[in-house]
Amino acid sequence: MTLSHKNEIMVVSGTSTGMGAATARELAARGYHVLAGVRRTPDADAIRADGIEPVILDITRPDHVEALVDRVASDPGRRPLRALVNNAGISVNAPVETLPLDEWRRLFDVNLFGHVAVTQALLPFLHRSRGRVVNISSVGGHVAMAAYGPYAATKFALEAVSDSLRRELAPHGVQVVVVEPGAVKTDMADRGAASTTGAAETMNPEQQQRYGALVRAVLAHTAAHIGTGLSADEAGAVIAGAATARRPRTRYTVGRDAALLTRLTRVLPDRVLDRVLAASLRRYFPAGSA
Ligand SMILES: NC(=O)c1ccc[n+]([C@@H]2O[C@H](COP(=O)([O-])OP(=O)(O)OC[C@H]3O[C@@H](n4cnc5c(N)ncnc54)[C@H](OP(=O)(O)O)[C@@H]3O)[C@@H](O)[C@H]2O)c1
Repeated sequence: MTLSHKNEIMVVSGTSTGMGAATARELAARGYHVLAGVRRTPDADAIRADGIEPVILDITRPDHVEALVDRVASDPGRRPLRALVNNAGISVNAPVETLPLDEWRRLFDVNLFGHVAVTQALLPFLHRSRGRVVNISSVGGHVAMAAYGPYAATKFALEAVSDSLRRELAPHGVQVVVVEPGAVKTDMADRGAASTTGAAETMNPEQQQRYGALVRAVLAHTAAHIGTGLSADEAGAVIAGAATARRPRTRYTVGRDAALLTRLTRVLPDRVLDRVLAASLRRYFPAGSA
């Protein structure tokens, strides 16, 4: 059952591509006015459509977040803000030992602090509308495979922030929902592979020897896994549902892989899960290296 409110505002970050673009289109199709965050003018021109108004929003830029607040506050129709969908994200996979701290900070700036900044800025409007925050986490918010530590750390942290926020806001009528996708076919795979390859090139010779095969296995595993994933439109439909359901669940998984893995993390002892994850990666190691 979905809410009947129309003519209300939805804010979605990271709508140049992938799930963010699909979510913006789905919410507009359901009758909402979507403020669609993009970082570049050509992306704004591409996403603009009936019910979709692009806004320039790099979530790490305080001036962009301020401009978003001004836009919501000065809405000509004084429409309420129904939900904020914190979707923007970046990925890089690297062993904990090797990823330069600047890269850790870049990941956290986008995947965690950017969302906290936008949430803090828009919460006054959500209090007024008794609206909703939808945080796009990942199956990586529950399980951290080898070399997924930095990305998973941002998503585990987003899960923690979401749990806390849900408990803080429930008495005030504002809901907090987490969406946890597994593999979804978007640009993130190629972008993440490029960042991962770049990070691997900064490893010293000893680290190359220790982790080179692991990084290659993770790249191959990710590519194979994404190939089996859902489309961005399928994921966008789940996210739009999470933003509009009358009585939303606290968490939605996207895809059977996410549903299975998140359940396994709850029931399997650590050492058993270690073996399951190692086995799923083993076949992707370069021949003779595993
Ligand atoms: N695809 C998957 O398999 C998968 C699985 C689990 C979770 N997720 C999560 O799903 C969300 C959407 O990812 P996607 O797969 O749709 O990836 P995507 O196609 O790469 O989209 C990521 C979006 O985030 C935007 N973005 C990056 N940095 C930003 C910043 N500083 N400020 C504002 N926007 C920024 C990108 O904009 P630019 O074009 O300007 O860079 C892009 O619009 C992410 O949070 C991701 O972690 C994805």
